[in-house]
Amino acid sequence: MLFAGIDLGTSGIKIALVDENGACCATAARASPVDIPHPGWSQQDPDQWWHLTVECFDELAADHPALMARLKAISLSGQMLGQVLLDKADRPTTPCILWNDQRAIAECAELLERVPDIGLRTNGQPDPGLTAPKLLWLTKHAPAALDTADVLMLPKDYVRLCLTGERATDITDAAGTMLMDCASGAWDDELLAAAGWDRARLPPLMQSCAPAGQLRTELCRRWNLQDAVLVATGSGDNYAGAIGVGASVPGRAALSIGTSGVLSAVDASFHPAPDKAILTTPHAAAGTYLSMGVVMAATQSLDWLARLTSTSAADLASLAEVRAAAGIAACPVSRPSITGVRSPDNRPDASAIFSGIMAGHDKADLAYAVLEGVAMQFYAAYQAQRASGVPVDHIQAVGGGTRSPFWVSLIASLLDTEIAIPAQGDISACLGAARMAMAASDPERTVEILGMQKPPLLTVEPVAGLRDQLLTRYAMHRRLAFTP
Ligand code: XUL
Repeated sequence: MLFAGIDLGTSGIKIALVDENGACCATAARASPVDIPHPGWSQQDPDQWWHLTVECFDELAADHPALMARLKAISLSGQMLGQVLLDKADRPTTPCILWNDQRAIAECAELLERVPDIGLRTNGQPDPGLTAPKLLWLTKHAPAALDTADVLMLPKDYVRLCLTGERATDITDAAGTMLMDCASGAWDDELLAAAGWDRARLPPLMQSCAPAGQLRTELCRRWNLQDAVLVATGSGDNYAGAIGVGASVPGRAALSIGTSGVLSAVDASFHPAPDKAILTTPHAAAGTYLSMGVVMAATQSLDWLARLTSTSAADLASLAEVRAAAGIAACPVSRPSITGVRSPDNRPDASAIFSGIMAGHDKADLAYAVLEGVAMQFYAAYQAQRASGVPVDHIQAVGGGTRSPFWVSLIASLLDTEIAIPAQGDISACLGAARMAMAASDPERTVEILGMQKPPLLTVEPVAGLRDQLLTRYAMHRRLAFTP
């Protein structure tokens, strides 16, 4: 039996076919461009996600027919927080405003005024990336998109709707709307009223590993599948990324270096830390919580520098490593926050900043400063999470950024802890989604399936001597201004 995990990412869609041991047998991927119509905006057309998903499955069906014939169930990992508004015919009424969009800053203050303790009841402090402030923004700037909407869902829910014809969302993604009470896991009327939304226009709220329908018959035919392919609800990407490496029990954490950077730590209790802009929600492993420290732009900031310097991100990471070997004291100090700052400072309005650039510096120095600046934001989030009582014991690094073990070693040195890099960690969100599909087909083995762990590819240790230098530079990093 095989399981498909769809990762609806911000910069691309990837699908992995995964066996019963959680190992990937085949993948297909497509880039998914982000539309930036104004600086600070970030949006996508939900239909783009669906067309790319179909292209990926078409490719898998053409290249791996024998594997596809064994497909038993599908699930999804999705970029979080975007509002998908659909009319009665399930057509999007407006583009999806993504998690890294900064337009709804004023509406965050309004929400806080309406519900002063919202940060303790939902996933954290209002932030323009979250869904509720976007609804308030749309009320003012695009009311027709709300008036004609019959349901509010999250990005992966749209792709699942196209797969099954059924509306639903899951508890992890619902937490990002700020319409759900995170401790009880139920939609909340006071929160709904504050965001100007109503219960009648919300989908059923499911557990991530629960079945959410069957793949539509015409799609089974198109891809030459068995007649009955189950589709499980799925979760937000950070939860799936954690589950993909077995981070389903308290103390285990996944440090994802993707477009965004997120330190996701599994907790037995609800330890909200809104004052530090940590997101805390129920986890996809039922009965546990996930605490997320978010670095808004991780590989995105390296990709930005790569574009400016016409050098690949991989080459920049190698140049940075070579530069660091010659000494970091003269390198600029940075906070490469090109899409604002979430944890722990909650400054969505902040722009990126480099300090100490001199005539002799070149792209290697800037590349080092970017890698270090991201590592330092992870460290700030980690400290905030630890201070709020979240256990962060066994960290596994996942996401595209782990292709640079040097980058991981900067983080390990700052956190002063070893960090494991698991096999196939760059596709952990796909693997996690596939595990949810597996659990939905065999519910009694859910705990075992979600917790499976494999020997790491590599364990990155803190580098002796480097930590003191990094801490000196960290003090400088923390003094960098937040003014745009
Ligand atoms: C988490 C966050 C991002 C998104 C990316 O709060 O904003 O990591 O999950 O999809």
